[in-house]
Amino acid sequence: MSAKLIKGTEIREEILEEITKEVAEIKDKHGVVPGLVTILIGENPASMSYVTLKIKTAHRVGFTEVQDSQPEDISEADLLALIDKYNNDDSINGILVQLPLPKQVDEKKILNAIDPDKDVDGFHPVNVGRLMIGGDEVKFPPCTPAGIQEMIVRAGVETSGAEVVVVGRSNIVGKPIANMMLQKGPGANSTVTIVHTRTKDLAGHCQRADILIVAAGVPGLVKPEWIKPGSCVIDVGVNRIGMNEKTGKAILRGDVDFDAAKEIAGSITPVPGGVGPMTITMLMKNTLKSLKFKLGLA
Ligand code: GUN
Repeated sequence: MSAKLIKGTEIREEILEEITKEVAEIKDKHGVVPGLVTILIGENPASMSYVTLKIKTAHRVGFTEVQDSQPEDISEADLLALIDKYNNDDSINGILVQLPLPKQVDEKKILNAIDPDKDVDGFHPVNVGRLMIGGDEVKFPPCTPAGIQEMIVRAGVETSGAEVVVVGRSNIVGKPIANMMLQKGPGANSTVTIVHTRTKDLAGHCQRADILIVAAGVPGLVKPEWIKPGSCVIDVGVNRIGMNEKTGKAILRGDVDFDAAKEIAGSITPVPGGVGPMTITMLMKNTLKSLKFKLGLA
């Protein structure tokens, strides 16, 4: 048996179409479009390419987009002042500070300075708390977990009562996706287990999973015998394992042994082209949502 592929590249197109349509409708009725600012510090090549893609996508769906590039040696005070400027700019609905930040800047201080109502990354403690409470309280779910949940739902996988096992306990993926899947509501209502580097029987837990979400950052960690036949496997790993000499592009591997796993799982996300494209897509969704909250439409 070969698993159904859950393609982030296809789901992205569906969602971006939906967003583009909604942006045009809001522009018609209210005369405004969502505004997104991305703040990029220094010249980290991976960060530069992420930010370029974010800006390109924002432009495609009809947002106003501002790219604010700052030097690697910016002081913490100057960066805080910049955030304050955008917090008070009415045309900006979403503020994204691209991580990682240089050493002289305290990441926690910076993320905490962003107005929670413009925190489209969902990293501010207020939004983390809102996510924990769940239901109507949630404003901006963090983008990668929101993308994972959207993929599971759009693939038609039953989540209610399902055993969900999350491999990895990061603040950006593991903890929030576990929290989202256990909430009351559609696309959730699951029984959730989080496993991590200190877990005694990783394989045993994974073997129980109807939905296995792997965000460990270890290429090929999940072996085919860990996978329950017919289950849904979401691979969040994006591991650079080498360079393609001809194209000059990085060779990417997930956290799951994909070729073997696809013969056992019922559905599975590929790497690349699985969860990856969903993060920026959900950033667009959160930025649109931010404007809708402001206009009283959400
Ligand atoms: N760096 C890598 N991923 C992300 C992300 O999702 N948001 C931000 N702000 N920085 C990142």
